[in-house]
Amino acid sequence: MEKSILVMVLVLAVLPYQLQSYYTPYNRLSIDCGATNTWEDPLTNYWWRLDDEFIKSGQNILLSVTTNRLPLETLRYFPEGTKNCYNLPLEVQEKYLIRAGFYYGNYDNLSKPPTFNLEFDGNLWATVTTSLGTDPIYHEVIYITRKEYVSICITKTQQGQIPFISSLEAISIAIYDGVYRLMNNDTALYLERRTNYGANQTFPERFDTLAEYYNRFWKPEQLPNYQNPFNGIDSDFSSMAENSPPYKVLNSAIRAQNVSDSIFLPIDFHEKAPLSAYFVFYFYHVGPWPNLNNITKQIVYIDGIEKNATTVRPYEECVVVSVYPVNVTGTANVTISPAQGTTLPPTLNAMEVFTTIEVSSSKSDPRLSFCAFFYVLVCLSGVVVWFG
Ligand SMILES: *[C@@H]1O[C@H](CO)[C@@H](O)[C@H](O)[C@H]1NC(C)=O
Ligand SMILES: *[C@@H]1O[C@H](CO)[C@@H](O)[C@H](O)[C@H]1NC(C)=O
Ligand SMILES: *[C@@H]1O[C@H](CO)[C@@H](O)[C@H](O)[C@H]1NC(C)=O
Ligand SMILES: *[C@@H]1O[C@H](CO)[C@@H](O)[C@H](O)[C@H]1NC(C)=O
Ligand SMILES: *[C@@H]1O[C@H](CO)[C@@H](O)[C@H](O)[C@H]1NC(C)=O
Ligand SMILES: *[C@@H]1O[C@H](CO)[C@@H](O)[C@H](O)[C@H]1NC(C)=O
Ligand SMILES: *[C@@H]1O[C@H](CO)[C@@H](O)[C@H](O)[C@H]1NC(C)=O
Ligand SMILES: *[C@@H]1O[C@H](CO)[C@@H](O)[C@H](O)[C@H]1NC(C)=O
Repeated sequence: MEKSILVMVLVLAVLPYQLQSYYTPYNRLSIDCGATNTWEDPLTNYWWRLDDEFIKSGQNILLSVTTNRLPLETLRYFPEGTKNCYNLPLEVQEKYLIRAGFYYGNYDNLSKPPTFNLEFDGNLWATVTTSLGTDPIYHEVIYITRKEYVSICITKTQQGQIPFISSLEAISIAIYDGVYRLMNNDTALYLERRTNYGANQTFPERFDTLAEYYNRFWKPEQLPNYQNPFNGIDSDFSSMAENSPPYKVLNSAIRAQNVSDSIFLPIDFHEKAPLSAYFVFYFYHVGPWPNLNNITKQIVYIDGIEKNATTVRPYEECVVVSVYPVNVTGTANVTISPAQGTTLPPTLNAMEVFTTIEVSSSKSDPRLSFCAFFYVLVCLSGVVVWFG
Protein backbone atom coordinates (compact mmCIF):
# COMPACT_ATOMS: atom_id res chain seq x y z
CA MET A 1 0.00 0.00 0.00
CA GLU A 2 2.63 2.50 1.09
CA LYS A 3 4.93 1.42 -1.74
CA SER A 4 2.30 2.11 -4.32
CA ILE A 5 1.82 5.59 -2.86
CA LEU A 6 5.58 6.16 -3.06
CA VAL A 7 5.52 5.15 -6.73
CA MET A 8 2.60 7.51 -7.28
CA VAL A 9 4.43 10.42 -5.65
CA LEU A 10 7.52 9.70 -7.76
CA VAL A 11 5.47 9.55 -10.95
CA LEU A 12 3.83 12.84 -10.07
CA ALA A 13 7.21 14.39 -9.35
CA VAL A 14 8.41 13.74 -12.90
CA LEU A 15 5.06 14.55 -14.52
CA PRO A 16 5.75 18.30 -14.93
CA TYR A 17 8.89 17.45 -16.90
CA GLN A 18 6.83 15.17 -19.10
CA LEU A 19 4.31 17.93 -19.72
CA GLN A 20 7.10 20.36 -20.46
CA SER A 21 8.68 18.10 -23.06
CA TYR A 22 5.57 18.40 -25.24
CA TYR A 23 6.07 22.17 -25.43
CA THR A 24 8.69 22.70 -28.14
CA PRO A 25 8.71 26.39 -29.01
CA TYR A 26 9.44 27.51 -32.54
CA ASN A 27 11.51 30.54 -33.50
CA ARG A 28 10.05 30.29 -36.92
CA LEU A 29 6.93 28.50 -37.99
CA SER A 30 5.43 28.38 -41.49
CA ILE A 31 2.15 26.52 -41.69
CA ASP A 32 0.58 25.61 -45.02
CA CYS A 33 -3.03 25.32 -43.85
CA GLY A 34 -4.94 22.40 -45.32
CA ALA A 35 -1.87 20.91 -46.99
CA THR A 36 -1.15 17.18 -47.00
CA ASN A 37 2.54 17.39 -47.91
CA THR A 38 5.31 19.38 -46.25
CA TRP A 39 7.62 21.17 -48.67
CA GLU A 40 10.75 23.29 -48.63
CA ASP A 41 10.33 26.90 -49.69
CA PRO A 42 12.88 27.44 -52.51
CA LEU A 43 13.30 31.12 -51.59
CA THR A 44 13.84 30.88 -47.83
CA ASN A 45 14.85 27.20 -47.49
CA TYR A 46 12.35 26.88 -44.65
CA TRP A 47 9.91 24.02 -44.56
CA TRP A 48 6.19 24.63 -44.73
CA ARG A 49 4.55 22.38 -42.15
CA LEU A 50 1.17 20.69 -42.09
CA ASP A 51 -1.42 22.28 -39.82
CA ASP A 52 -2.92 19.18 -38.19
CA GLU A 53 -0.49 19.26 -35.26
CA PHE A 54 -1.69 22.79 -34.36
CA ILE A 55 -5.45 22.46 -34.86
CA LYS A 56 -7.94 19.62 -34.54
CA SER A 57 -11.03 21.12 -36.20
CA GLY A 58 -11.95 22.08 -39.74
CA GLN A 59 -11.52 20.38 -43.09
CA ASN A 60 -8.78 20.72 -45.64
CA ILE A 61 -9.12 21.23 -49.36
CA LEU A 62 -6.90 21.64 -52.40
CA LEU A 63 -7.94 24.52 -54.64
CA SER A 64 -8.60 23.78 -58.29
CA VAL A 65 -6.76 26.96 -59.29
CA THR A 66 -3.00 27.36 -59.18
CA THR A 67 -1.27 30.47 -57.86
CA ASN A 68 2.34 31.54 -57.88
CA ARG A 69 2.20 31.42 -54.08
CA LEU A 70 2.26 27.77 -53.14
CA PRO A 71 1.06 28.01 -49.51
CA LEU A 72 -2.20 29.47 -50.80
CA GLU A 73 -3.16 26.50 -52.96
CA THR A 74 -4.63 24.62 -50.03
CA LEU A 75 -6.79 25.91 -47.21
CA ARG A 76 -8.62 24.78 -44.11
CA TYR A 77 -12.27 25.76 -43.75
CA PHE A 78 -14.49 25.63 -40.70
CA PRO A 79 -18.11 24.59 -41.31
CA GLU A 80 -18.58 23.66 -37.60
CA GLY A 81 -18.47 25.89 -34.55
CA THR A 82 -18.22 29.65 -34.16
CA LYS A 83 -14.58 29.81 -33.16
CA ASN A 84 -11.78 27.55 -34.41
CA CYS A 85 -8.27 28.02 -33.08
CA TYR A 86 -4.69 27.16 -33.90
CA ASN A 87 -2.34 26.84 -30.90
CA LEU A 88 1.20 27.83 -31.79
CA PRO A 89 4.03 26.85 -29.43
CA LEU A 90 6.26 29.96 -29.37
CA GLU A 91 8.91 31.37 -27.07
CA VAL A 92 7.46 33.28 -24.12
CA GLN A 93 7.94 37.08 -23.80
CA GLU A 94 9.48 37.34 -27.24
CA LYS A 95 8.63 39.67 -30.12
CA TYR A 96 7.10 37.79 -33.07
CA LEU A 97 5.87 38.80 -36.47
CA ILE A 98 2.74 36.77 -37.13
CA ARG A 99 1.04 36.74 -40.52
CA ALA A 100 -2.10 35.00 -41.72
CA GLY A 101 -2.87 34.55 -45.44
CA PHE A 102 -6.26 34.10 -47.08
CA TYR A 103 -6.93 33.13 -50.65
CA TYR A 104 -10.50 32.10 -51.41
CA GLY A 105 -9.91 30.83 -54.95
CA ASN A 106 -13.65 29.93 -55.11
CA TYR A 107 -12.77 26.59 -53.48
CA ASP A 108 -16.46 25.81 -52.78
CA ASN A 109 -17.66 26.82 -56.28
CA LEU A 110 -20.22 29.14 -54.67
CA SER A 111 -18.55 32.44 -55.69
CA LYS A 112 -19.35 33.77 -52.20
CA PRO A 113 -16.14 34.96 -50.55
CA PRO A 114 -16.78 35.07 -46.79
CA THR A 115 -16.14 37.75 -44.17
CA PHE A 116 -15.09 36.73 -40.65
CA ASN A 117 -12.88 37.74 -37.74
CA LEU A 118 -9.32 36.85 -36.85
CA GLU A 119 -8.07 36.91 -33.23
CA PHE A 120 -4.77 36.38 -31.45
CA ASP A 121 -4.80 35.39 -27.76
CA GLY A 122 -8.38 36.63 -27.46
CA ASN A 123 -7.67 40.05 -29.01
CA LEU A 124 -9.44 41.14 -32.18
CA TRP A 125 -6.74 41.19 -34.85
CA ALA A 126 -8.71 41.98 -38.02
CA THR A 127 -11.95 41.58 -39.86
CA VAL A 128 -11.03 39.47 -42.87
CA THR A 129 -12.94 40.40 -46.01
CA THR A 130 -12.07 37.91 -48.72
CA SER A 131 -12.81 38.41 -52.41
CA LEU A 132 -12.99 36.67 -55.75
CA GLY A 133 -9.84 38.54 -56.83
CA THR A 134 -6.55 36.86 -57.52
CA ASP A 135 -4.63 38.82 -54.89
CA PRO A 136 -4.26 37.06 -51.56
CA ILE A 137 -5.14 38.92 -48.37
CA TYR A 138 -2.62 39.08 -45.57
CA HIS A 139 -2.98 40.34 -42.02
CA GLU A 140 0.15 40.85 -39.98
CA VAL A 141 0.75 41.70 -36.36
CA ILE A 142 3.87 42.21 -34.25
CA TYR A 143 3.22 40.78 -30.83
CA ILE A 144 5.17 40.06 -27.65
CA THR A 145 4.08 36.58 -26.63
CA ARG A 146 2.55 36.15 -23.18
CA LYS A 147 2.62 32.39 -22.67
CA GLU A 148 3.77 29.10 -24.17
CA TYR A 149 0.99 28.84 -26.73
CA VAL A 150 -0.40 31.68 -28.83
CA SER A 151 -3.93 31.01 -29.96
CA ILE A 152 -4.95 32.21 -33.42
CA CYS A 153 -8.71 31.96 -33.82
CA ILE A 154 -10.89 32.25 -36.89
CA THR A 155 -14.37 33.37 -35.82
CA LYS A 156 -17.62 33.17 -37.72
CA THR A 157 -19.43 36.52 -37.68
CA GLN A 158 -21.90 36.24 -40.58
CA GLN A 159 -24.70 33.72 -40.78
CA GLY A 160 -24.08 31.15 -43.51
CA GLN A 161 -20.50 32.26 -44.24
CA ILE A 162 -17.80 29.67 -43.66
CA PRO A 163 -14.41 31.03 -42.51
CA PHE A 164 -11.15 29.59 -43.83
CA ILE A 165 -7.40 30.19 -43.67
CA SER A 166 -4.63 29.50 -46.20
CA SER A 167 -1.36 30.15 -44.39
CA LEU A 168 -0.05 31.05 -40.96
CA GLU A 169 3.49 32.19 -40.21
CA ALA A 170 5.25 33.23 -37.02
CA ILE A 171 8.85 34.38 -36.81
CA SER A 172 10.78 35.62 -33.81
CA ILE A 173 12.17 39.07 -34.58
CA ALA A 174 14.18 39.31 -31.37
CA ILE A 175 17.48 38.46 -33.10
CA TYR A 176 18.75 41.95 -32.31
CA ASP A 177 17.51 44.26 -29.58
CA GLY A 178 15.57 47.26 -30.63
CA VAL A 179 13.51 45.94 -33.53
CA TYR A 180 10.42 48.20 -33.63
CA ARG A 181 11.86 49.53 -30.39
CA LEU A 182 9.18 52.09 -29.59
CA MET A 183 6.50 49.42 -29.31
CA ASN A 184 5.06 48.94 -25.81
CA ASN A 185 4.56 45.46 -24.47
CA ASP A 186 0.91 46.10 -23.65
CA THR A 187 0.13 46.76 -27.31
CA ALA A 188 0.61 44.86 -30.55
CA LEU A 189 1.34 46.48 -33.91
CA TYR A 190 -1.10 45.84 -36.74
CA LEU A 191 0.52 46.35 -40.16
CA GLU A 192 -1.31 48.94 -42.27
CA ARG A 193 1.31 49.11 -45.03
CA ARG A 194 4.95 48.34 -45.78
CA THR A 195 6.05 50.02 -48.99
CA ASN A 196 9.17 49.67 -51.11
CA TYR A 197 9.10 53.02 -52.95
CA GLY A 198 10.50 53.37 -56.44
CA ALA A 199 10.44 49.64 -57.19
CA ASN A 200 8.29 48.68 -60.14
CA GLN A 201 5.36 46.32 -59.85
CA THR A 202 7.31 43.36 -61.21
CA PHE A 203 9.82 43.63 -58.36
CA PRO A 204 9.32 40.82 -55.80
CA GLU A 205 7.68 41.54 -52.42
CA ARG A 206 9.46 38.72 -50.69
CA PHE A 207 13.19 38.03 -50.35
CA ASP A 208 15.47 35.27 -49.16
CA THR A 209 16.55 35.05 -45.54
CA LEU A 210 19.94 36.70 -46.06
CA ALA A 211 18.33 39.82 -47.50
CA GLU A 212 15.33 39.83 -45.15
CA TYR A 213 15.80 38.33 -41.68
CA TYR A 214 12.22 38.87 -40.54
CA ASN A 215 10.18 37.40 -43.41
CA ARG A 216 8.54 40.75 -44.15
CA PHE A 217 6.76 41.51 -47.43
CA TRP A 218 7.63 44.91 -48.96
CA LYS A 219 5.06 46.05 -51.48
CA PRO A 220 6.70 47.73 -54.49
CA GLU A 221 5.24 51.09 -55.49
CA GLN A 222 6.24 53.68 -58.07
CA LEU A 223 4.60 57.09 -57.98
CA PRO A 224 4.35 58.93 -61.31
CA ASN A 225 4.44 62.43 -59.74
CA TYR A 226 7.96 61.82 -58.42
CA GLN A 227 11.31 60.64 -59.69
CA ASN A 228 11.73 56.94 -59.01
CA PRO A 229 15.52 56.50 -58.77
CA PHE A 230 16.96 53.01 -58.63
CA ASN A 231 20.55 52.15 -57.65
CA GLY A 232 20.51 48.94 -59.63
CA ILE A 233 22.75 47.26 -57.07
CA ASP A 234 21.10 43.99 -56.34
CA SER A 235 22.64 43.48 -52.90
CA ASP A 236 21.81 40.24 -51.13
CA PHE A 237 22.22 41.64 -47.62
CA SER A 238 20.25 43.59 -45.12
CA SER A 239 21.33 46.88 -43.59
CA MET A 240 22.67 47.10 -40.03
CA ALA A 241 20.36 50.05 -39.42
CA GLU A 242 17.36 49.86 -37.08
CA ASN A 243 14.89 47.09 -38.07
CA SER A 244 17.42 45.62 -40.58
CA PRO A 245 15.85 46.84 -43.85
CA PRO A 246 16.99 44.84 -46.92
CA TYR A 247 19.27 46.72 -49.36
CA LYS A 248 17.02 45.41 -52.13
CA VAL A 249 14.38 47.71 -50.66
CA LEU A 250 16.70 50.65 -49.90
CA ASN A 251 18.10 50.71 -53.43
CA SER A 252 15.07 52.46 -54.85
CA ALA A 253 13.11 55.50 -53.71
CA ILE A 254 10.71 58.24 -54.61
CA ARG A 255 12.31 61.67 -54.89
CA ALA A 256 10.64 65.05 -55.38
CA GLN A 257 11.11 66.53 -58.88
CA ASN A 258 12.87 69.62 -57.58
CA VAL A 259 15.14 70.46 -54.67
CA SER A 260 12.53 72.89 -53.35
CA ASP A 261 9.56 70.48 -53.69
CA SER A 262 8.04 68.24 -51.01
CA ILE A 263 6.83 64.65 -51.04
CA PHE A 264 3.20 64.43 -49.98
CA LEU A 265 1.65 61.06 -49.07
CA PRO A 266 -1.88 60.72 -47.71
CA ILE A 267 -2.07 57.44 -45.73
CA ASP A 268 -5.44 55.76 -45.36
CA PHE A 269 -6.13 53.55 -42.36
CA HIS A 270 -8.26 50.42 -42.17
CA GLU A 271 -10.92 52.22 -40.16
CA LYS A 272 -12.21 55.74 -39.62
CA ALA A 273 -12.12 55.64 -35.80
CA PRO A 274 -9.23 57.40 -33.99
CA LEU A 275 -6.18 55.15 -33.87
CA SER A 276 -2.67 55.34 -32.50
CA ALA A 277 -0.13 54.89 -35.31
CA TYR A 278 3.55 53.92 -35.51
CA PHE A 279 5.51 55.18 -38.55
CA VAL A 280 8.94 54.07 -39.72
CA PHE A 281 10.72 55.99 -42.49
CA TYR A 282 13.81 54.60 -44.23
CA PHE A 283 16.17 57.08 -45.89
CA TYR A 284 19.18 56.01 -47.90
CA HIS A 285 21.19 57.69 -50.61
CA VAL A 286 20.19 56.50 -54.07
CA GLY A 287 22.78 57.39 -56.75
CA PRO A 288 24.53 59.03 -58.42
CA TRP A 289 27.12 58.08 -55.80
CA PRO A 290 30.53 59.70 -56.39
CA ASN A 291 29.94 63.28 -55.21
CA LEU A 292 30.16 63.66 -51.42
CA ASN A 293 28.44 67.03 -51.65
CA ASN A 294 25.21 65.31 -52.62
CA ILE A 295 23.39 65.48 -49.31
CA THR A 296 19.72 65.37 -48.50
CA LYS A 297 18.43 67.42 -45.58
CA GLN A 298 14.77 67.00 -44.97
CA ILE A 299 11.98 67.40 -42.42
CA VAL A 300 9.20 64.88 -41.80
CA TYR A 301 5.76 66.24 -40.93
CA ILE A 302 2.67 64.22 -40.06
CA ASP A 303 -0.60 66.17 -40.30
CA GLY A 304 1.44 69.36 -40.38
CA ILE A 305 3.37 68.65 -37.17
CA GLU A 306 7.16 68.38 -37.42
CA LYS A 307 8.33 64.93 -36.31
CA ASN A 308 11.98 64.74 -37.37
CA ALA A 309 14.75 66.57 -39.19
CA THR A 310 17.41 64.42 -40.73
CA THR A 311 20.42 64.40 -43.06
CA VAL A 312 21.15 61.58 -45.51
CA ARG A 313 24.66 61.31 -46.98
CA PRO A 314 26.18 59.04 -49.63
CA TYR A 315 28.34 56.15 -48.34
CA GLU A 316 26.55 56.26 -44.98
CA GLU A 317 24.23 53.74 -43.42
CA CYS A 318 20.49 54.02 -43.89
CA VAL A 319 18.80 56.58 -41.61
CA VAL A 320 15.75 55.15 -39.88
CA VAL A 321 13.23 57.51 -38.33
CA SER A 322 10.60 55.94 -36.06
CA VAL A 323 7.66 58.04 -34.90
CA TYR A 324 5.27 56.78 -32.25
CA PRO A 325 2.63 57.42 -31.02
CA VAL A 326 0.75 59.52 -33.56
CA ASN A 327 -3.01 60.03 -33.19
CA VAL A 328 -4.71 59.51 -36.55
CA THR A 329 -8.31 59.49 -37.72
CA GLY A 330 -9.08 57.89 -41.08
CA THR A 331 -6.19 59.49 -42.99
CA ALA A 332 -2.80 60.91 -42.04
CA ASN A 333 -0.86 63.31 -44.27
CA VAL A 334 2.86 62.60 -44.43
CA THR A 335 4.93 65.47 -45.86
CA ILE A 336 8.68 65.31 -46.40
CA SER A 337 10.04 68.78 -47.08
CA PRO A 338 13.48 70.12 -48.00
CA ALA A 339 15.49 71.67 -45.15
CA GLN A 340 18.03 74.48 -45.29
CA GLY A 341 21.26 73.40 -46.98
CA THR A 342 19.97 70.40 -48.89
CA THR A 343 21.47 69.84 -52.34
CA LEU A 344 19.05 67.09 -53.38
CA PRO A 345 15.25 66.93 -53.33
CA PRO A 346 13.46 65.09 -50.48
CA THR A 347 13.69 61.31 -50.88
CA LEU A 348 11.91 58.36 -49.28
CA ASN A 349 13.07 54.77 -49.80
CA ALA A 350 10.60 52.79 -47.73
CA MET A 351 7.92 53.27 -45.12
CA GLU A 352 6.06 51.10 -42.65
CA VAL A 353 2.84 52.15 -40.97
CA PHE A 354 1.26 50.27 -38.08
CA THR A 355 -1.64 50.94 -35.76
CA THR A 356 -1.73 49.65 -32.21
CA ILE A 357 -3.98 46.96 -30.82
CA GLU A 358 -4.49 47.02 -27.04
CA VAL A 359 -3.59 43.59 -25.68
CA SER A 360 -5.76 42.19 -22.90
CA SER A 361 -3.83 41.69 -19.65
CA SER A 362 -1.63 38.61 -19.68
CA LYS A 363 -3.22 35.37 -18.58
CA SER A 364 -1.30 32.17 -18.10
CA ASP A 365 -2.41 29.15 -20.09
CA PRO A 366 -5.50 27.83 -18.25
CA ARG A 367 -4.56 24.24 -19.09
CA LEU A 368 -1.12 24.59 -17.52
CA SER A 369 -2.38 26.29 -14.36
CA PHE A 370 -5.03 23.60 -13.97
CA CYS A 371 -2.30 20.95 -14.24
CA ALA A 372 -0.18 22.78 -11.68
CA PHE A 373 -3.11 23.07 -9.28
CA PHE A 374 -4.02 19.40 -9.71
CA TYR A 375 -0.41 18.38 -9.29
CA VAL A 376 0.05 20.28 -6.01
CA LEU A 377 -3.23 18.89 -4.69
CA VAL A 378 -2.34 15.25 -5.45
CA CYS A 379 1.24 15.64 -4.17
CA LEU A 380 0.01 17.09 -0.89
CA SER A 381 -2.46 14.27 -0.38
CA GLY A 382 0.30 11.78 -1.25
CA VAL A 383 2.56 13.32 1.38
CA VAL A 384 -0.27 13.32 3.94
CA VAL A 385 -0.97 9.62 3.31
CA TRP A 386 2.76 8.76 3.35
CA PHE A 387 3.46 10.36 6.70
CA GLY A 388 -0.01 9.86 8.11
C1 LIG B 1 -15.63 22.77 -57.91
O1 LIG B 1 -15.62 22.61 -59.31
C2 LIG B 1 -14.48 21.91 -59.81
C3 LIG B 1 -14.49 21.96 -61.32
O2 LIG B 1 -15.79 21.69 -61.78
C4 LIG B 1 -14.48 20.49 -59.24
O3 LIG B 1 -13.31 19.81 -59.68
C5 LIG B 1 -14.47 20.57 -57.73
O4 LIG B 1 -14.56 19.26 -57.17
C6 LIG B 1 -15.63 21.42 -57.21
N1 LIG B 1 -15.44 21.62 -55.78
C7 LIG B 1 -16.42 21.55 -54.89
C8 LIG B 1 -16.05 21.77 -53.46
O5 LIG B 1 -17.57 21.35 -55.22
C1 LIG C 1 6.63 44.82 -20.04
O1 LIG C 1 8.01 45.13 -20.03
C2 LIG C 1 8.50 45.46 -18.74
C3 LIG C 1 9.93 45.92 -18.89
O2 LIG C 1 10.66 45.07 -19.71
C4 LIG C 1 8.35 44.25 -17.82
O3 LIG C 1 8.80 44.59 -16.54
C5 LIG C 1 6.88 43.86 -17.77
O4 LIG C 1 6.73 42.67 -17.01
C6 LIG C 1 6.33 43.63 -19.16
N1 LIG C 1 4.90 43.41 -19.07
C7 LIG C 1 4.25 42.45 -19.72
C8 LIG C 1 2.77 42.42 -19.58
O5 LIG C 1 4.82 41.68 -20.44
C1 LIG D 1 11.22 46.68 -63.44
O1 LIG D 1 12.52 46.87 -62.92
C2 LIG D 1 13.42 45.84 -63.24
C3 LIG D 1 14.73 46.14 -62.54
O2 LIG D 1 15.12 47.43 -62.77
C4 LIG D 1 13.58 45.80 -64.75
O3 LIG D 1 14.45 44.76 -65.09
C5 LIG D 1 12.23 45.57 -65.40
O4 LIG D 1 12.35 45.63 -66.80
C6 LIG D 1 11.23 46.61 -64.95
N1 LIG D 1 9.92 46.27 -65.45
C7 LIG D 1 9.07 47.19 -65.87
C8 LIG D 1 7.74 46.68 -66.32
O5 LIG D 1 9.31 48.37 -65.87
C1 LIG E 1 12.11 72.81 -61.11
O1 LIG E 1 12.09 74.15 -60.65
C2 LIG E 1 12.49 75.08 -61.64
C3 LIG E 1 12.58 76.46 -61.01
O2 LIG E 1 11.51 76.67 -60.13
C4 LIG E 1 11.50 75.05 -62.80
O3 LIG E 1 11.90 75.91 -63.82
C5 LIG E 1 11.44 73.63 -63.36
O4 LIG E 1 10.45 73.51 -64.34
C6 LIG E 1 11.14 72.62 -62.26
N1 LIG E 1 11.27 71.29 -62.79
C7 LIG E 1 10.33 70.36 -62.59
C8 LIG E 1 10.61 68.99 -63.21
O5 LIG E 1 9.31 70.51 -61.95
C1 LIG F 1 25.73 64.85 -57.32
O1 LIG F 1 26.76 64.01 -57.81
C2 LIG F 1 26.83 63.94 -59.22
C3 LIG F 1 27.87 62.92 -59.61
O2 LIG F 1 29.11 63.25 -59.06
C4 LIG F 1 27.12 65.31 -59.79
O3 LIG F 1 27.10 65.25 -61.21
C5 LIG F 1 26.06 66.29 -59.32
O4 LIG F 1 26.38 67.58 -59.75
C6 LIG F 1 25.93 66.26 -57.82
N1 LIG F 1 24.80 67.07 -57.45
C7 LIG F 1 24.89 67.95 -56.47
C8 LIG F 1 23.65 68.73 -56.23
O5 LIG F 1 25.87 68.11 -55.82
C1 LIG G 1 -4.71 65.98 -45.46
O1 LIG G 1 -4.60 66.61 -46.71
C2 LIG G 1 -5.84 66.78 -47.37
C3 LIG G 1 -5.57 67.28 -48.77
O2 LIG G 1 -4.66 68.35 -48.75
C4 LIG G 1 -6.70 67.72 -46.55
O3 LIG G 1 -7.97 67.86 -47.17
C5 LIG G 1 -6.90 67.11 -45.15
O4 LIG G 1 -7.60 68.00 -44.34
C6 LIG G 1 -5.56 66.80 -44.52
N1 LIG G 1 -5.78 66.05 -43.29
C7 LIG G 1 -5.22 66.37 -42.13
C8 LIG G 1 -5.58 65.51 -40.97
O5 LIG G 1 -4.45 67.30 -42.01
C1 LIG H 1 15.44 62.03 -36.22
O1 LIG H 1 15.66 60.62 -36.28
C2 LIG H 1 17.01 60.26 -36.14
C3 LIG H 1 17.13 58.79 -36.42
O2 LIG H 1 16.33 58.06 -35.55
C4 LIG H 1 17.50 60.62 -34.74
O3 LIG H 1 18.84 60.28 -34.60
C5 LIG H 1 17.31 62.12 -34.56
O4 LIG H 1 17.62 62.45 -33.24
C6 LIG H 1 15.88 62.53 -34.87
N1 LIG H 1 15.84 63.99 -34.88
C7 LIG H 1 14.84 64.69 -34.38
C8 LIG H 1 14.95 66.16 -34.49
O5 LIG H 1 13.88 64.16 -33.84
C1 LIG I 1 -3.57 61.08 -28.47
O1 LIG I 1 -4.87 60.87 -27.99
C2 LIG I 1 -4.91 60.51 -26.62
C3 LIG I 1 -6.32 60.10 -26.25
O2 LIG I 1 -7.26 60.72 -27.07
C4 LIG I 1 -4.39 61.68 -25.80
O3 LIG I 1 -4.41 61.37 -24.43
C5 LIG I 1 -2.97 61.97 -26.22
O4 LIG I 1 -2.47 63.10 -25.55
C6 LIG I 1 -2.86 62.21 -27.71
N1 LIG I 1 -1.46 62.21 -28.07
C7 LIG I 1 -0.93 63.10 -28.92
C8 LIG I 1 0.54 62.94 -29.21
O5 LIG I 1 -1.59 63.98 -29.45
